[in-house]
Amino acid sequence: MIQQTLVLVKPDGVKRGLIGEIISRFEKRGLKIVGIKMVQVDPDFSKKHYSAHVAKSFYKNLEKFITSGPVVAMAIEGIDAVEVVRKIVGSTEPKSAPVGTIRGDFAHVSLNYADSKGKSAENLIHASGNKEEAEQEVSLWFSIDELHSYKLSYEDHVM
Ligand code: CDP
Ligand code: MG
Repeated sequence: MIQQTLVLVKPDGVKRGLIGEIISRFEKRGLKIVGIKMVQVDPDFSKKHYSAHVAKSFYKNLEKFITSGPVVAMAIEGIDAVEVVRKIVGSTEPKSAPVGTIRGDFAHVSLNYADSKGKSAENLIHASGNKEEAEQEVSLWFSIDELHSYKLSYEDHVM
């Protein structure tokens, strides 16, 4: 099934100059970027985006992290894109993320270590966790006129 999913290059990824490296991993896999913009998240918007986490113990540090600089938001389209993108991103904790994934290749912090420093684990990227979350997040971040429909020149070979 063709799906759209939300990806954010978080403030650490932007400040480390990894926007291009991260985007190219999705492009090389044949996924299509159908929306893209740079956004400074404020605390109100953070609470909307992370509504499922607002009541959790790590939320305060997470809000500090996600509002600490601009993010690059993307709507990414492809076959079972939610699952494929999560695989490219890797598991939440950089220490545990497999090598070859974005989180596993560019970070190694553990959730415990970050927590002991009063910080959120800086894991470079957000990707919607499931189909329902993806639909909700793409519509939270992008208006209809910010989402584009076009054909990749190599679509006949990868889709
Ligand atoms: O981002 P992902 O869907 O992999 O993980 P999540 O469980 O939805 O948590 C959202 C974000 O909160 C993570 O990406 C981390 O940045 C942060 N987090 C944290 O700092 N400490 C935790 N124990 C859990 C999550
Ligand atoms: Mg999540």
